[in-house]
Amino acid sequence: MIRHATVHDVPAVGKIINDSAEYGLMLHRSASFLYEHVREFHVAQESGVVVGVCGLSIVWANLAEVYSLAVVPGCRGRGLGKQLVEACVEEARELGLRRLMTLTYETRFFESCGFEVVDRQSLPLKVWSDCVRCSKSQACDEVAMVRVLDDVPDASGGMTPELPAADSYEVPVTLSVRPARVERRPKMDEAPE
Ligand SMILES: CC(C)(COP(=O)(O)OP(=O)(O)OC[C@H]1O[C@@H](n2cnc3c(N)ncnc32)[C@H](O)[C@@H]1OP(=O)(O)O)[C@@H](O)C(=O)NCCC(=O)NCCS
Repeated sequence: MIRHATVHDVPAVGKIINDSAEYGLMLHRSASFLYEHVREFHVAQESGVVVGVCGLSIVWANLAEVYSLAVVPGCRGRGLGKQLVEACVEEARELGLRRLMTLTYETRFFESCGFEVVDRQSLPLKVWSDCVRCSKSQACDEVAMVRVLDDVPDASGGMTPELPAADSYEVPVTLSVRPARVERRPKMDEAPE
């Protein structure tokens, strides 16, 4: 079963994501991040246990990112990853988002989900905002992939300017000159991580 995540899923979601992050496959996510962004996540559940997760983050009028996709090792190869991506695609469609992107090493998997490899510099610089937290930010080897939902009309309607692509900046996408990220202060009642 694929469903929206709830706050009760956060511990399991965090374990699945962070286990994959240990292998360098994605970024670690803190409990506070997951609670703040829980509405972005779908989970795969089997026999009452959460065994997979995938996030969808809106970047701009015509772009959303599929991120933190992971299925526990014992449940891979059974279609759950694809179902999780499809749930995000369906949500993007409902939200009127025409283009989905992801940064991944799993190009063959995402090709099977309808994504195509694109030049990473064609994506808006905003997409790389997480990279500043990544140990590979100066030598990132993830592949940028995009899926266009042809049945979804362009949402900008002239009202929302397109975000500039990374290659329209003189500074390359390495982010070496970006200002340091200002960490959010923990809330008073926030559990320590
Ligand atoms: C990538 C991942 C989510 C795929 O989940 P999954 O449940 O095993 O994938 P599915 O069973 O839905 O596979 C869907 C399709 O992709 C193919 N596929 C899955 N993993 C693949 C791989 N590593 N290489 C090539 N093809 C792959 C499957 O054969 C299947 O093809 P089909 O539709 O033609 O039958 C899972 O392997 C995983 O959690 N990996 C670790 C975390 C990770 O790398 N996440 C991606 C970060 S963006």
